[in-house]
Amino acid sequence: MNKYRYRKWFEDARFGMFVHWGVYSLIGRGEWVRSNERLSVEDYQPYVERFQPDSFSAETIVSLAEEAGMKYIVFTARHHDGYCLFDTATTDYQSAHYCGHDFVREMADACHRHGMKFGLYYSLIDWHHPDYPHYGDRIHPQRDDPAWKGYDHNFSWYLDFMHEQVRELCSNYGRVDLLWLDYSYDDMRAETWQAEELVQMIRTLQPGIVLNNRLEASGEGFGSLVSGSPTSVSGDFVSPEQIIPPHGIVDCNGKHVPWEACITMNNHWGYCKDDHYFKPADMLIRKLVECVSKNGNMILNIGPDGDGNIPPESVEILKEIAAWMKHSGESVHGCHGTGLEKPEYGRITAKENIVYYHVLEGMIGGIPLTGLKKEQVKKITVLKTDREIPVSDTWITGNYPDIVFADMGEDPCLPDTADTVLKVEVIE
Ligand code: GLC
Repeated sequence: MNKYRYRKWFEDARFGMFVHWGVYSLIGRGEWVRSNERLSVEDYQPYVERFQPDSFSAETIVSLAEEAGMKYIVFTARHHDGYCLFDTATTDYQSAHYCGHDFVREMADACHRHGMKFGLYYSLIDWHHPDYPHYGDRIHPQRDDPAWKGYDHNFSWYLDFMHEQVRELCSNYGRVDLLWLDYSYDDMRAETWQAEELVQMIRTLQPGIVLNNRLEASGEGFGSLVSGSPTSVSGDFVSPEQIIPPHGIVDCNGKHVPWEACITMNNHWGYCKDDHYFKPADMLIRKLVECVSKNGNMILNIGPDGDGNIPPESVEILKEIAAWMKHSGESVHGCHGTGLEKPEYGRITAKENIVYYHVLEGMIGGIPLTGLKKEQVKKITVLKTDREIPVSDTWITGNYPDIVFADMGEDPCLPDTADTVLKVEVIE
């Protein structure tokens, strides 16, 4: 049985939305605020009680994602702070108890209504649970608090708690298409999490689910998916973080490995009120195309604020991406790289008998369709305008008989400043 068969929808989707949201969003200094500022559970409690988000709308989020051509959403069910955005029987440290909302339910229902693939982010790490390592841990908020030195944690109690929460998430919300577990570090990986047992349960409850690789890896390490000897806890895709792998990702035998670059719009996952360094929409469109041209996905993050409002900069970016997707999304969805030499003006993606040339800068004398021969070209269309354009057949390109050029006509300006896509139907 091809154990990777579940990944077809994932690799066809190519583009997803990450949603990082929780009590930390109320503080507005990112999701690591407790660790960065050494906030204790007691320091954090006032924010837990003040977290009463009236503006959160799963429907709005899913609609924005759908319009932007995103085919799956990954929503934070629980981040490192341990606060659960779902109704769990394991603890009262959760949104149904404090603010009467099961936000995972709301997101699941909205995704299922829209036919949007539904994914959950779940932190393996828990800075609230008393049996998670504190003093001496690499990242815990109380890692250097002498009051916790020598504290007798019962880590197996924490594992029972964590596994039970994952069981609830895989049992109570209908189909879960993707589980984004996060993350392994130092000796906190694989069997420290009792990963075999956890994955067995997850895949039993959700047979079609797609898992990431962070039960044994994290943003910096890729784990056994690339070492050529995948295990049952390898996951189904590799998760490079805040970077697009220069050459895509293959295993030690050069075999393709599904991967997804997780990228923030500014520089924070969770809402950060002073971070206004948002990446321009045209850059994000080009980066998405770059991922696809390297056989990968891109998941793009939004971080709603403490009331549940999506930052206006993020909404504007998503709407600009939506406009491009509307006319050129077919050059992303269901597409992959080609192994052809990257053209100096852009990128190449493809599916079936179609090759998409992504023209990011204008060329003088025509657009060289690298990798193709003239006799292969059946039809060339500018995706945005649906205008058919000819193969260049003038003395200017006659000096390059081995190269086929698309004739863009007299106007030197490209129809789309972000990415003008030439759809080339080829004769196989
Ligand atoms: C890292 C960060 C975590 C974030 C995740 C998203 O693991 O620690 O805060 O949720 O990346 O990829």
